[in-house]
Amino acid sequence: MIQYQINMPISAEQFIDVLRRSTLGERRPIDDHECMEGMVSNSNLLVTAWDGGKLVGVARSMTDFHYACYLSDLAVDCDYQRQGIGRQLQILTQQQLGRHCKLILIAAPAANAYYGHLGYTNLPRCWVLDRDQGLQD
Ligand SMILES: CC(C)(COP(=O)(O)OP(=O)(O)OC[C@H]1O[C@@H](n2cnc3c(N)ncnc32)[C@H](O)[C@@H]1OP(=O)(O)O)[C@@H](O)C(=O)NCCC(=O)NCCS
Repeated sequence: MIQYQINMPISAEQFIDVLRRSTLGERRPIDDHECMEGMVSNSNLLVTAWDGGKLVGVARSMTDFHYACYLSDLAVDCDYQRQGIGRQLQILTQQQLGRHCKLILIAAPAANAYYGHLGYTNLPRCWVLDRDQGLQD
C-alpha cells in the first residue's frame, strides 16, 4: 500500500533518483548538484509517496499557501504510474492550501493532456523569463 508524507525531508539524491525513475529527470538539471540541492531545500511544500522505504512519487511546490502555489515538479516512478498516485499527490498538495489558493504549473510535453483531465484550466498567457534573457542594463 502506498503511503503519503507531507513535508518529510528528502535528500537531493533521493529527489534525483525518483525524477530519473519517472523520466522527468530528462527535463531537470539533475547533474547540477548545487541546483538540485537548492530545489529540495528551498521548496516549502513537499508531498511524497512511498512504497515501504522506496520513494515512488513526489510533488514539490513553492507557495504562500493563500494565493498561489507553483507546482514545480510532479513525478511518479514509471513502475507506479497510472495507479492514481499523481492524482493523490495533487489532492494532498491542494489540501495544504487556503481556499483561494490556485495550483499553477508548466506541463511537460508528455503530460500536457493529463492536467485538463484533472480539472486544470489551460491559460495561453503564461510567460517564462530565462535567467539569461532580458531585464538587463
Ligand atoms: C504525469 C504523472 C505525474 C501522472 O502521474 P500518475 O500517477 O501516472 O497519474 P494518475 O494515476 O494519478 O492519473 C490520473 C488520471 O490521469 C490519466 N493520465 C495519467 N498520465 C497521463 C498522461 N501522461 N496524459 C494523459 N492522461 C494521463 C490516468 O489515466 C488517470 O485517468 P483516470 O482517472 O481516468 O483513471 C506521471 O505519469 C509522471 O511522472 N510522468 C513523467 C513525468 C512528468 O511528465 N511529470 C509531469 C511534469 S509537468
